[in-house]
Amino acid sequence: MPELKLNQAPAHVRHGSNMGQPLTRRDGVLKVTGAAPYAADSKVEGLLHAVLAVSTIARGRVTHLDVAAAKAHPGVVDVMTPENRPALAEDPDAKTNPFMFRLDLLQNDRVRYPNQPIAVVIADTLEAATEGAALLAPRYETEPARAGLDTEGRFSPNTVGVGNPAEASHGDVEAGLAGAAKRVEATYETPAQYHNAMEPHAIVAHFEGDRLTVDTPSQGLAMAQGRLAGLFGMDPKNILVRSPFLGGGFGSKGFIAGPQILGVLAAKLTGRPVKLVLRREHMYGPVGHRAPTRQTLRLATDGDGALQALHHHTLTASSTFDDFFEPASDIAHTLYASPAIRTSHEAVRVDSGTPLFMRAPGEATGSIALESAIDEMAEACGMDPLEFRLKNYAEIEPLSGKPFSSKALRECYRQGAERFGWSKRSLAPRQMRDADGLLVGYGMGTATFPALMFQANAKAIIKRDGTGVVESGTHDMGQGAWTAFAQVAADSLGLDIEQIEYRAGRSDLPDAGIAGGSAHTATAGTAIHRAGAAVIAKLAALATENPDSPLYGAGNAGVIAREGRLHRRDDESRSETFAAILDRAGLDQIEESGAAATDPAAAGAYAMHAHGAVFAEVKVDPDFGQIRATRLVGAFAAGRIINPKLVRSQLFGGMIWGVSFALHEHAAVDHRTGRVMNPNLGEYHIPVNADVPALEAITVDEHDPHVNDLGVKGVGEIGITGSAGAVANAVWHATGVRVRNFPITLDQLIG
Ligand code: MOS
Repeated sequence: MPELKLNQAPAHVRHGSNMGQPLTRRDGVLKVTGAAPYAADSKVEGLLHAVLAVSTIARGRVTHLDVAAAKAHPGVVDVMTPENRPALAEDPDAKTNPFMFRLDLLQNDRVRYPNQPIAVVIADTLEAATEGAALLAPRYETEPARAGLDTEGRFSPNTVGVGNPAEASHGDVEAGLAGAAKRVEATYETPAQYHNAMEPHAIVAHFEGDRLTVDTPSQGLAMAQGRLAGLFGMDPKNILVRSPFLGGGFGSKGFIAGPQILGVLAAKLTGRPVKLVLRREHMYGPVGHRAPTRQTLRLATDGDGALQALHHHTLTASSTFDDFFEPASDIAHTLYASPAIRTSHEAVRVDSGTPLFMRAPGEATGSIALESAIDEMAEACGMDPLEFRLKNYAEIEPLSGKPFSSKALRECYRQGAERFGWSKRSLAPRQMRDADGLLVGYGMGTATFPALMFQANAKAIIKRDGTGVVESGTHDMGQGAWTAFAQVAADSLGLDIEQIEYRAGRSDLPDAGIAGGSAHTATAGTAIHRAGAAVIAKLAALATENPDSPLYGAGNAGVIAREGRLHRRDDESRSETFAAILDRAGLDQIEESGAAATDPAAAGAYAMHAHGAVFAEVKVDPDFGQIRATRLVGAFAAGRIINPKLVRSQLFGGMIWGVSFALHEHAAVDHRTGRVMNPNLGEYHIPVNADVPALEAITVDEHDPHVNDLGVKGVGEIGITGSAGAVANAVWHATGVRVRNFPITLDQLIG
């Protein structure tokens, strides 16, 4: 893979500090010219191509594969099945921690979901491997598929998400419901959705002696390296995972998935480098999805519209062989004040691949149901939906009783409503029309996502020429990590962004944790910031302790790094360049490390969340029910914004996904076979540009001294929350028809 040369930021957008500037993404030119190397672009001498054969049944056993026919096809080098798959040091079904998902690595002849890999054909060309896979003509012993939320065997999981309690409550919900002036009880259903990153999961795997190099898109380089080390019985140091760019991940690339590891096994089997790229339809099974949910909301208010009880119950589905339970009810812990709140979850097991984190896991599914129910409750109270939300504003986190570390949601409501023109909304539905006679609806939703911190490490170096190097194995999945982290790195060293080299996207750099949970900028950014501060402190000591320096005697706290120089704080005219300090000390470079992790004290004392308010306009054809989202305004408070241009882009992506959640996306499962019937981008409706409304994303100033050193809360996932509910509520307001089965489709409006 070529050394990355990122273009420099345009000069006109830089002034003063790097953080907070709307720099254009530094990898933009590489991407638009096609020069950015993605995993499948990796070229290795002697490369073979591997293609998966996948199960067409949901449950049963593979009884026969025509391996001989596949092997006889010209160009086919080998066929990997449970018979000849190289031994692994670890059982793919082992689970020693909740982040370790069970994998299908040809361990036996069992089929436990449609599209499960059942063989791998390896050939000189992609075409030969594809043809060879088709010749396997599998035969099965088939058992009936279990599909859908009405599958028998409902149970209460102990935890949802990763380690969240499945049940929580405060106050007496039943008493609150019984004594209420107004009540709403409604059930909402959300379908299975698939991540559908533009770039399919792909891997190029290459063994050289006892070393393994893989090019594969990863949201968690060190975890991928660790999983490979465990499965192959290797020292992690002998495994290099490279992932400079991802063509989208959205959670599906947080953990290395089974098909990627099958690519490594194919390389091991053949003793040659192997490339394996998933076909689009093969992504509907072994690489995770958003689980379907059926959510029942029970709400009650007193005569003034103040909530007295809120119960959020979720029924979801997981696979038959592993645990991931979509934590959809958890959003009710945080969003609205009520003297009684209860959240609960149940699940069934179906013959699907194991569901997984998918952008705004829990909050995306939970938010569309809760925000719809809040809208229904406001209507029952005869109140404007914004007035109702302000009436029930949570000043402290209702369930935990903790204060928020910061919460500028009121300001989000104010700025968003004003910008949108919310005051022009009719209280009653089906009252507004445009010049063409289309029904116009306004709806809103509250957005929220936790401000999390995981763990990350970084290294900062100042070289003798006064320039800097910062290393952290961060992940750019399209969100702009190459740029935002370079901005943090440059500021941490007091250098211009062009005077530093930012190295990322490889597992041989300091472990930057995971690009997930909207926590990457917060976590790795803090580690980078600390590494930079540590190396500057080292530099300061070299200067302030040396009588030959103009900074002598100032002390570490008495100097400040700016523009490649240390200055005395009390007399900024007295300064010295980094280069001069290192030169006098006779050092080629100095380096220091930085680390960041969850701060249990802060997490124990405060509820930490980003917030937002989204306002949507839709237009609906009164005769045919055709729905268009025409305008979305979101106002978000997410702490410090490192790069407003990239953040706006992230928020737009989330808001578009909200439109998609409300109106488009649906993996349609045939309950007789358990198979997804629309496993392709033609029939699984992802928004195209023509579907995207006029968008505006406002970031509201928010200073948070508790979340982390930088005050960053993260924006990766919050955009989808609130937005989906806002669109759904706008459809109700346009038509007077409340659709509770998502996505909202025209047949449900005119039925
Ligand atoms: Mo996100 S679902 O943590 O990539």
